[in-house]
Amino acid sequence: MIPVNEPKIGVRECDYVLECLQSGWVSSAGKYIQAFESGWADYCGRRHGVATSSGTAALQTAVACLSLEAGDEVIMPTFTIISCALAVLYNGGVPVLVDADPETWCMDASQVAARITARTRAIMAVHIYGHPVDMDPLLTLADEHDLALLEDAAEAHGAQYLHGHAGKQAEWVRCGSMGTLSVFSFYANKLVTTGEGGMLLCADAEIAARARSLRNLCFQPERRFHHEELGHNFRLTNLQAALGLAQTERMDETVARKRWMGNAYTERLAGVPGLQLPVERAWARQVYWMYGVVLAREHELSAREFAARLRERGVDTRPFFLGMHAQPALQQLGLFQDETYRIADHLAQQGLYLPSGLGLSEAQLEQVCAAVRETLL
Ligand SMILES: Cc1ncc(COP(=O)(O)O)c(C=O)c1O
Repeated sequence: MIPVNEPKIGVRECDYVLECLQSGWVSSAGKYIQAFESGWADYCGRRHGVATSSGTAALQTAVACLSLEAGDEVIMPTFTIISCALAVLYNGGVPVLVDADPETWCMDASQVAARITARTRAIMAVHIYGHPVDMDPLLTLADEHDLALLEDAAEAHGAQYLHGHAGKQAEWVRCGSMGTLSVFSFYANKLVTTGEGGMLLCADAEIAARARSLRNLCFQPERRFHHEELGHNFRLTNLQAALGLAQTERMDETVARKRWMGNAYTERLAGVPGLQLPVERAWARQVYWMYGVVLAREHELSAREFAARLRERGVDTRPFFLGMHAQPALQQLGLFQDETYRIADHLAQQGLYLPSGLGLSEAQLEQVCAAVRETLL
């Protein structure tokens, strides 16, 4: 079976981790934490990095930094992972949804303005499957309405966005560098993986200090066991940071490999009838975190049946996200009653992603494409 993801762990990771083991620095103290935080923040073009135990923990910390009041609203895509909605709910807020763009699968920025109310405090932009959200309209709205902009770049390590693309002074910037706060996941299927792990980035020193405190149980520097705020243990270990730093140091190679993979899939699958492939907008340099495909609405196969046929041919896949509005656990809270999101429903019904890990060989990619063609042609 060709796995949907296989991470690539190199010699440098082994060297750094061995050094942690031999030095005894295995917990969340040790030189690799800070080196990874500043290395990743630098790579993304942000001043501060705060490493966390997962992307979900980074999101929760980021939303906590907004100090929401009960009932405050955060606008987000319905087509995303539940971590985004949970971060808002656990901080007393209310997630407010917008549908996906039918081609980039990211939140449809044109729907956001209509969802702003007197209770809106933030917009959460989520770059989906490696393609950036169109951030300029969101940055403008955030500015006009005095909202925080949270950027979830968990799936977009190294992706770039042409900031200001409608004007004359456009500039390429990395995903994760545009939000008031941005977050990453370093789960095993991400371009940089620490096994489990995450990071929060920001430009503001005070926000970074608050995030550090929240991550570490809000211990006080002067009186350690005196707590004035409720925090979490969301710390990353030195061992994990060692893995992350080694991979940060070869990001150019990683991004090049992922872009090769995305383009190779597109070349081989273009023209398969009824199969929608990922796009790359002129203002985006996407990284094909996962190479998603979507069967046409009228297709005789659903994504589920398609996945079963591919599995018979030795190809593992994963289904696309199920929208937040369709999640029983969220509906049971009385959320999203009678709301419909046509594009997200279609993507959930007809979308899946193909093997996309850094460990995928060219021969495996050919096999995957052959299996897709045999199934659909
Ligand atoms: C967009 C997005 N945000 C957040 C997360 C959560 O990250 P983690 O699995 O590290 O908790 C993920 C996980 O894959 C994700 O895809």
